Amino acid sequence: MAIHKLTKAIFPVAGLGTRFLPATKAQPKEMLPVVDKPLIQYAVEEAYAAGVREMIFVTGRHKRPIEDHFDMTFELEVALEQAGKQELLDVVRSVKPDDMECIYVRQAQALGLGHAVLCARRLVGNEPFAVLLADDLMVGEQPVLKQMVEQYAEWRTSILAVQEVPAEHTRRYGIVAGTPVSETLMDVSRIVEKPAPEDAPSRLAVAGRYILTPGIFHEIASQPRGVGGEIQLTDGIAGLLRREKVFAYRYQGKRYDCGSKEGFLQANVELALAHPQLGPGFRDYLKSLDI
Ligand code: G1P
Repeated sequence: MAIHKLTKAIFPVAGLGTRFLPATKAQPKEMLPVVDKPLIQYAVEEAYAAGVREMIFVTGRHKRPIEDHFDMTFELEVALEQAGKQELLDVVRSVKPDDMECIYVRQAQALGLGHAVLCARRLVGNEPFAVLLADDLMVGEQPVLKQMVEQYAEWRTSILAVQEVPAEHTRRYGIVAGTPVSETLMDVSRIVEKPAPEDAPSRLAVAGRYILTPGIFHEIASQPRGVGGEIQLTDGIAGLLRREKVFAYRYQGKRYDCGSKEGFLQANVELALAHPQLGPGFRDYLKSLDI
């Protein structure tokens, strides 16, 4: 395979967000704010920090606010400029740096994560690419995708971000097994989508960050429907394993499962505490609560 720099990322954002109803009745779950930024912006910033410049959003109906968020907001910018509010203007403009391109493709039917990735096939072409699930908010001293890009640069093969989970949580994730290559890297020999604890090949779960080689598209396209009747990315990766090496990488950092209300609340509390302006006051406030 030709050696390419990783410049493209896919953000599957067509999901209905039913777990957050009624908040997501008329707005995409990816636009729910954690402290002061929508979830999707965290994922896009992580990709940008890893060197990605082409952001490919696989969207669906009712997802216009995501497009608007990464577009220029002309009236707002003019108003802020006239009011001399330079700091706010910088905040607004930083959402989409000039060298970042946003591309949108529709996933007409919610047929699963694998299907969403396949919708971006023509836009990605014959290059490696990243997939970021905005539900998984990742916080690391070094952005998690950047850590993975470094691994990719060394090994030139697909890399999956993994973390250990309790046995009772294997049903929520793609679970991998394989041979250790180093302390943080594993040569994957098996991957199973959402197994019951007794069927799980390990407790190493795939978090929502992937670097994939373009061979994955053919594999997804030839998969039958998997768990939940959906076309699963995990099943495509299981196919890819038979032809190419796939590595699982234990990332350094913390993952907040913002697809669940608990994880979303935890992210809000912890990121508020770490916020340079809000943090100290918020800490005092939490301490003052009689809990
Ligand atoms: C998806 C993937 C799963 C992965 C998880 C990470 O599941 O199918 O393999 O472990 O994301 O968050 P979902 O959470 O969309 O059900």
